[in-house]
Amino acid sequence: MKTKTTFYCTQCGNEYPRWMGKCPACGAWDTLVEQVEKTSAVRKDGGKQPVRKSAVLFGEVREDSEIRFFTGLRELDRVLGGGAVKGSLVLVGGAPGIGKSTLLMQVCGHFIEDKSILYVTGEESERQLKLRAERLGVDLNGMYLLAETNMDAILSDCERLEPDILVIDSIQTLYDDDMTSAPGSIGQVKECTMQLMRFAKSSGTTVFIIGHVNKEGAIAGPRVLEHMVDCVLYFEGSNSSSHRIIRASKNRFGSTNELGVFEMHENGLSEVLNPSEIMLTGRPENVPGTCVTCVIEGTRPILAEIQALLSTSGYSVPRRNSNGIDVNRTMMLLAVLEKRCGLKISGCDSYINVIGGLYLDEPASDLAAVLAVASSYRDKPIENTLAAVGEVGLTGEIRMVRNLEQRLAEISRLGFTKCIVPRQRGKIKLPPEGMEIIEAGSIREAMQYLFR
Ligand code: TYD
Ligand code: MG
Repeated sequence: MKTKTTFYCTQCGNEYPRWMGKCPACGAWDTLVEQVEKTSAVRKDGGKQPVRKSAVLFGEVREDSEIRFFTGLRELDRVLGGGAVKGSLVLVGGAPGIGKSTLLMQVCGHFIEDKSILYVTGEESERQLKLRAERLGVDLNGMYLLAETNMDAILSDCERLEPDILVIDSIQTLYDDDMTSAPGSIGQVKECTMQLMRFAKSSGTTVFIIGHVNKEGAIAGPRVLEHMVDCVLYFEGSNSSSHRIIRASKNRFGSTNELGVFEMHENGLSEVLNPSEIMLTGRPENVPGTCVTCVIEGTRPILAEIQALLSTSGYSVPRRNSNGIDVNRTMMLLAVLEKRCGLKISGCDSYINVIGGLYLDEPASDLAAVLAVASSYRDKPIENTLAAVGEVGLTGEIRMVRNLEQRLAEISRLGFTKCIVPRQRGKIKLPPEGMEIIEAGSIREAMQYLFR
């Protein structure tokens, strides 16, 4: 087989026969990436000519072609859009040590009864995997294990074994012989993923690819794999907490808003079916600077605690720090609070944090953020049993949010007895029993209620 290696610039797209530090066309540094072209008629994947398909009528497309199976972890199934799809390519990304291998080994443990599995490990030895399986208490004796990083060898074993499930741990360790760049480089990672995708689509094998997220937060370079695979899952969490959150950033077979929560134990990951309780554990009582809100993640309401700390600034430009909410959004909220309620926030450093590793991208959490800031500024606590839901506009008005009833039900379920909501003019159908609804039209009104 003949191969031709070229390098292309990820910035301007120009091609060159050799690698260079700087792209002569656009002048960008370190943007050249290797690619191989296979020019022979015999292809690597199986040595067969690719089957050419002809167009079919849309009306004749069979709908039952999407076969799904459950992974044994409901939280993961939810994020996948109702189980894994046969013949799909799922990328599981996350920081090293977060628990990606653990998660997939548990999934393998569930499939072992009725599916054939091939687990390719490029990082850990067979012995290490055996020890992990023992720790997890899963019986994986019927699973095939391959400690190999060469793409040709992996594909030939795949064709021999024809597994239903293929796990690649991790994509950064694999390499294709025809490329000169090192494993883990963008060119290699792309080429190997491409070959795995061809294999998944031609054989109907479901492929799970583990990818490490690098310092910039993208999987193997700036989002190089995301457009190739069917589903991209990010596994997040901090090393200091045992909670892990999995979310889809792309899903061709379901919604991307869903979120799954796990907890890491001695013997593996367990599902957290009641995330609101977890997000509120250890919540301080009667201290200024904290407020609870309810966000909708996919189809599920989750309570989140927002904390704020304001302190007199020693800098000419005060610090604006925000964790778990977009920093620009918090700057806007601080400006609204200053202008509409007269709080002198421009002289304060502001730190805002969402507890539990959640990222709140819904405007419904605005009101709670504003109230947490005001509570810290005034140094007055907000009642423990009070939550707040509402979007804040530039004039300081509190605007309606979707699914208010669903949020109120979750807030009430966790023992809250009061909630500040946008003014409805009596439109709330059936507020939960025992809950006092405080309607406020503006943040000024909400603050008058809280800090009278
Ligand atoms: P691992 O799945 O190897 O992470 P990744 O594949 O994402 O790099 O998990 C690594 C961490 O998880 C490690 O620090 C130990 C911890 N762990 C547990 O706490 N309990 C367990 O049962 C297992 C298997 C791992
Ligand atoms: Mg691992």
